[in-house]
Amino acid sequence: MAKNKLKRFADLEEMQRVFQPASAYADRDYHLKGKWGAEIFGNNNPIVLELGCGKGEYTVGLSRLFPNQNFIGIDRKGARIWRGAKTINEEQVMNAAFMRAQIQHLGSIFDHREISSIWITFPDPQPQKTREKSRMTAPRFLEMYRKILVSGGRVHLKTDSFPLYEYSLQCAKESGAIIHVSTSDLYATLDTDAVLDIKTTYEKRFLSEGLKICYLSISWPL
Ligand SMILES: C[S@@+](CC[C@H](N)C(=O)[O-])C[C@H]1O[C@@H](n2cnc3c(N)ncnc32)[C@H](O)[C@@H]1O
Repeated sequence: MAKNKLKRFADLEEMQRVFQPASAYADRDYHLKGKWGAEIFGNNNPIVLELGCGKGEYTVGLSRLFPNQNFIGIDRKGARIWRGAKTINEEQVMNAAFMRAQIQHLGSIFDHREISSIWITFPDPQPQKTREKSRMTAPRFLEMYRKILVSGGRVHLKTDSFPLYEYSLQCAKESGAIIHVSTSDLYATLDTDAVLDIKTTYEKRFLSEGLKICYLSISWPL
């Protein structure tokens, strides 16, 4: 393994508010399930997730914009979350955390209604039909999100992939979701705000290539 990666893994072990559960949590509940607010953030403020967060730009950006909410960036790759984790440690951002985990296991990590909203930022589009079940907006994932979200909690998706956007919209409709915002060209159709204006590493790359950004915001009826 590359030296730099090993160094990052070692750094993560030392950092505050970084969680790297052993794989055992896949079979049983993670010890923080239902206790994230009280034990990690020391409050009952809403908890927002960023899934497949990479370097965690939404996690860090939102935590600065909303000091009265808590944010957890989740990605399966430790070397990626290192960037965001380093920032929140250096800047002592107390309302943000990072976790190295597979989103398949969210139901073991968070309790019913423990989460106030979810951001999915530029997930792998998984275009092959055989990979459909791995798309982060596949029905099995939407069902999982619905369980851990509070009533009316939103799922936000940003993607450069029009096929993934269309697929996600279809899955959302079939799941009975309310579609709050749905656009295949975010910056041409919406007046953006400080939240939508946060740009991840992948978003910056896609915009520099002239790609359009699709955006979807959904929730489920109470
Ligand atoms: C295309 S990158 C986007 C990263 C970041 N959100 C951005 O916009 O710059 C997709 C990320 O999703 C993560 N990922 C893919 N499948 C995952 C899974 N099942 N569980 C957790 N993370 C996953 C990858 O490790 C990768 O960092």
